[in-house]
Amino acid sequence: MCGVFGYIGHRSNAALLVFEGLKRLEYRGYDSWGVVVVGRGKIYVKKKTGKIGGATVDELPPGSLAIGHTRWATHGGVTEKNAHPHLDCTHTIAVIHNGIVENYESIQAELVHAGHRFVSETDTEIIAHLLEFYAHNMSFIEAFVKTFQRLEGLNAIVAIHHKERVLVAAKKGSPLVIGFGKKENFIASDPSALLPHTKEVYFLEDGQMAVLRDASVSVMESASQKVVKFSTQILDWDVSQTHKGEFHHFMLKEIYEQPQVVLGIAGSGGEEVKRIVSLIRKTKDLYFVGCGSASYACLAGAYLFSKIAQRRAHAIAGSEFLYHLDFINTKSVVVALSQSGETIDTLESVSYAKRKGAKIVALVNVLGSSLYRVADAKILIGAGPEKAVASTKAFIGKIAHLILLAYALDKRVKEGQELLRKSAEVIREVLAEKNSDRIKKLAHRICGVNHIFILGRGLSYSASLECAMKIKEISYIHAEGLAAGELKHGTLALVEKGTPCIVLLPNDETYAATLAGAMEIKARGGYIIGISPKKEGVFDEYLPIADVGDASMIPMVVTGQLLAYYLALERGLDPDMPRNLAKSVTVR
Ligand code: F6R
Repeated sequence: MCGVFGYIGHRSNAALLVFEGLKRLEYRGYDSWGVVVVGRGKIYVKKKTGKIGGATVDELPPGSLAIGHTRWATHGGVTEKNAHPHLDCTHTIAVIHNGIVENYESIQAELVHAGHRFVSETDTEIIAHLLEFYAHNMSFIEAFVKTFQRLEGLNAIVAIHHKERVLVAAKKGSPLVIGFGKKENFIASDPSALLPHTKEVYFLEDGQMAVLRDASVSVMESASQKVVKFSTQILDWDVSQTHKGEFHHFMLKEIYEQPQVVLGIAGSGGEEVKRIVSLIRKTKDLYFVGCGSASYACLAGAYLFSKIAQRRAHAIAGSEFLYHLDFINTKSVVVALSQSGETIDTLESVSYAKRKGAKIVALVNVLGSSLYRVADAKILIGAGPEKAVASTKAFIGKIAHLILLAYALDKRVKEGQELLRKSAEVIREVLAEKNSDRIKKLAHRICGVNHIFILGRGLSYSASLECAMKIKEISYIHAEGLAAGELKHGTLALVEKGTPCIVLLPNDETYAATLAGAMEIKARGGYIIGISPKKEGVFDEYLPIADVGDASMIPMVVTGQLLAYYLALERGLDPDMPRNLAKSVTVR
């Protein structure tokens, strides 16, 4: 949450460079944005509320040191004053921040007492004033160290001073990645934002700070100032993957990339997978943990492992994991699922589990991310950069890996790979024009409703939760995924004449029972939309999918993604940046 971008180097268009960086990071927060550049020995600021849209930074002067920020508000409303960067009283220091300063009120009281004037309602502004306060008696870098040590909570900060040719950064919790160029260096909260400039990066660890200069970067322990020797790594993504290309939205582009993602996974299964399989085989205490869509992938993982490999696994949402800790011990294995590898509740779950001696396996999309670094064993999802806030290809990638792992556990890895190849074909069929037109028409028909219910059993239950999540977050229609058998225990009371109920009917052991549920809804006036390989008389609308056995939730979810996308368009909404949300939830 919140996008951070900084530049120091030989180019004189630093403000524009940072501004372009912010555009690439906007999915991390789009309440407001701001850029600060040091030009002609002074600090110049531009801040705006709302999305970047067609804005420019043309009025900012040339300069070769700049920082910028896209905000997802925590403390203080969405106003220009609350937008970052924040300045000190003398307008010589600028700060950008991702996180929450938990003790900001007491620090602010202290600073007000010392005569500092605050202009915003944010926790961040105290950082600029604290820097100013300490910089009276020490160097800017020393003041930065002192300031960072005073902050409680999980924070990443970047600061500049109009007279110092440095960009200083520190982190605990929220991510920061340094990009290395030729006589220029960059810092960002997400590596994909660095791709147009460099692939050589270093992910700052918690408790580390960095001093970026034009032609050098030093990393230190922020508590002791001890210099840290670090090695850079090379990103395996390409800048072309971060463009929308021919698509109107990143979400649609990412939906259409899914056959390739699944095919890529079908071709995986190497040494690291074998190591993970052997780790899992040794434990009787297996957990999946993840948040949001990733938590639904966890639930699917538990069903897949049970069905394909007869292995028991517990699926727990990251924010609930703490309350299951009594059961975690040195024999436990925790598989953490995350696109970004930076989701705070997932990271905290992993760190609790580690403290109890559990082994950590990561299924993660971002190379070098916090989860990637902390895990004992890892699989890269291989979905490429995911920019739309609503996760699509990373979710399907997680499911594909879980299918392959389950088959590998049952010593049938080739069968799993074959199933995934078939699934990639089936996704193509869902995306084909004739089918997507059918979904588009359905979206047109039902876009005015208040509720949509989605029913599934077994694996399709987790698919129902994911389809509902997609619909809710980008179309703002209340959608509820349900275990089909649970409907008549309460929620059926909400079904009225014409209420759309999507029924997930794969060709498996759940078919007859879910179909009976569909009949009961129909008897109460519900409008039945069947997603299934077979057409049933009870359906008012039929969205066909081919039968791919244990992987059937893949085409179901892809159908749900398209429906959500077209519902958002019908309602005049931007599917890439839904209100109130942001990608990569790095605050609690
Ligand atoms: C929903 C969505 C979120 C994420 C969740 C976890 O479409 O994108 O629910 O799935 O915030 O994110 P990662 O996978 O980055 O840990």
